Amino acid sequence: MNKRTIVMLAVLLLAAFVLAACGGQKAQPTQAPVPTQAPVATQAPAPTKAPVATAVPESDLVGDSLRGGRLYDDWMEELGVDAPAGDQPLWATQSSNMRSDGDTWRCKECHGWDYKGADGAYGSGSHKTGFVGVFQTAGTSPNEILATLKGATNPDHDFSSVLDDQALTDLSLFLSQELVDDSKFVNADKSLVGGDATMGKSFFDDNCSDCHGPQGLAINFGADEGEVEYYGTIASDNPWEFLNKARFGQPGVDRMPSMVDIGASDQEYADLLIYATSLPTSSPVTEGGLLYDKWWKAMGVDAPTSDQPLWATQSSNTRSGADSWRCKECHGWDYKGVDGAYSSGSHKTGFKGVFDAASMSADELTAWLDGSKNADHNFAGDGMMGDEQIQALVAFLQQGMVDKSDFINADKTVNGDAAHGEVLFKECAECHGDDGKTIDFDDGEEVEYVGTIAIDNPWEFFNKASVGNPGAIMPSGLNLGWSLQDIIDVLAYAQTLPAE
Ligand code: HEC
Ligand code: HEC
Ligand code: HEC
Ligand code: HEC
Repeated sequence: MNKRTIVMLAVLLLAAFVLAACGGQKAQPTQAPVPTQAPVATQAPAPTKAPVATAVPESDLVGDSLRGGRLYDDWMEELGVDAPAGDQPLWATQSSNMRSDGDTWRCKECHGWDYKGADGAYGSGSHKTGFVGVFQTAGTSPNEILATLKGATNPDHDFSSVLDDQALTDLSLFLSQELVDDSKFVNADKSLVGGDATMGKSFFDDNCSDCHGPQGLAINFGADEGEVEYYGTIASDNPWEFLNKARFGQPGVDRMPSMVDIGASDQEYADLLIYATSLPTSSPVTEGGLLYDKWWKAMGVDAPTSDQPLWATQSSNTRSGADSWRCKECHGWDYKGVDGAYSSGSHKTGFKGVFDAASMSADELTAWLDGSKNADHNFAGDGMMGDEQIQALVAFLQQGMVDKSDFINADKTVNGDAAHGEVLFKECAECHGDDGKTIDFDDGEEVEYVGTIAIDNPWEFFNKASVGNPGAIMPSGLNLGWSLQDIIDVLAYAQTLPAE
């Protein structure tokens, strides 16, 4: 036992005495059952959350314990602040977890999604630090916890220089009041305890599918890192993480509901979890659509620097470098190459389209993409696409290409219902604003908004609204369950938005 552990034990003992001493005097408000003792499958469907105002033991701290749960997940994201420079000082006392910088400041990185530190899921694997859990602080005095967060027991555990008092208070209330023993729901080997998938589906449809889509595939959370991570992926790979996010919400995403807030019962968590693990973890057609747009961005790898070899066989399109490697640059947003919108204008290359290639076999398409058909048409291998990406592109070419001329006229007008599109656009307005002007895509002196793209290049808009935007955490319309007509309706509405 090292010195630090002894100090910690002493503090814990002291806290226990204080609690015992005070216990007789103050009437304790009825608390939620002590987490470790909660029964597993027979639990009556009662809300797990104790009312905040009355449940603060031994403390006059006032705050938002649910926000505490999001701060525990990632306080930098929740607060919208940059990570402190360098590693958290305690990080140097371990050497098994190789992460660095921002990650080392997350409570969950040291104490675990299951709150059990070395005794829980982070007892092994790449996240192992050997640090203690915080589960034992459940039901203890928030003031004592607050002191720990301010470095009372270890100056290297002082977060008061990076977190304000309210954030530290919320964290303390979270640890005191909101911790649940995840072993009620998940075994150490990730197998689930109980749960009814049919009930879980209806909970999901009522509370989560609006944003995550009917299959949980609408948002890829790994998009900004070139990874593929959907709702079902997290539920299967890391059910403890899933539970924390489901209970308290996603840091920095105000609009995502908290299941504690909803008043979900233990049974509902178990039901949702078992259903969520049955959801798909890949979406080849939309992933292929993102690769078609800009494959290196979708993969999170460096952009090519030289020109694509076939580029030299044309001279009308004067772009160079990375642009010459985009499928869409040679084959068009409408997939029709020289026979489509790129038959004239600055994007004209004279290259053929790929629309008719939809009828090719998977083997034949693969041969086109890995250079077997034409060595200068190779997009596979080192620094380029792997098997998974090639398969996704093949799926997109076979199933994802739509004849846009049914929807978009040559003069760029569209055959859609703008009034219906306005309703659907709410899903986009979350990030792009009601007028579509919150994000400007142009990094130069011009401006480019959702409205600008809808008017100037409806084919491009159609692609982005259908499959998403490579490298951005943005929903895919198709995976939100929208029909092609829905997407056109959104496009029709977006054409009414300001272009400048
Ligand atoms: C870099 C790793 C690291 C990070 C990040 C970290 N802790 Fe700790 N925490 C520890 C270690 C190690 C201890 C053991 C005691 C000590 O040495 O201070 C500890 C102890 C604690 C304790 C006391 C546990 C007990 O049994 O009394 C609480 C509560 C706690 N941490 C909460 C948090 C919260 C909340 C955050 C996020 C703001 C956080 N910790 C971030 C490593 C970390
Ligand atoms: C109002 C929209 C909305 C609703 C409803 C919603 N979410 Fe989310 N959720 C989001 C957004 C947006 C993100 C991703 C944000 C990001 O990573 O930037 C997200 C991310 C997540 C993540 C993964 C976060 C990560 O980065 O790993 C999980 C797990 C999750 N949600 C669970 C749920 C559950 C469970 C429900 C239903 C109880 C739900 N969500 C309902 C909007 C929503
Ligand atoms: C630099 C321009 C260029 C880029 C970038 C490009 N292609 Fe091509 N592609 C061509 C040309 C030219 C041909 C015809 C080559 C030939 O006949 O040997 C072709 C042929 C094809 C064919 C066969 C079409 C048919 O009907 O025979 C498919 C499929 C295809 N490309 C898909 C893609 C995909 C998917 C991407 C993105 C990974 C891509 N291409 C990127 C220029 C390009
Ligand atoms: C969760 C936030 C979010 C939501 C919701 C969202 N987007 Fe986006 N969108 C982004 C981000 C981030 C970018 C990339 C901005 C950049 O590249 O600078 C983007 C880019 C775009 C672009 C332009 C890409 C380019 O670079 O030319 C279009 C078009 C677009 N979004 C349409 C939509 C539509 C349509 C919806 C509704 C289905 C939508 N977005 C919903 C975040 C979002």
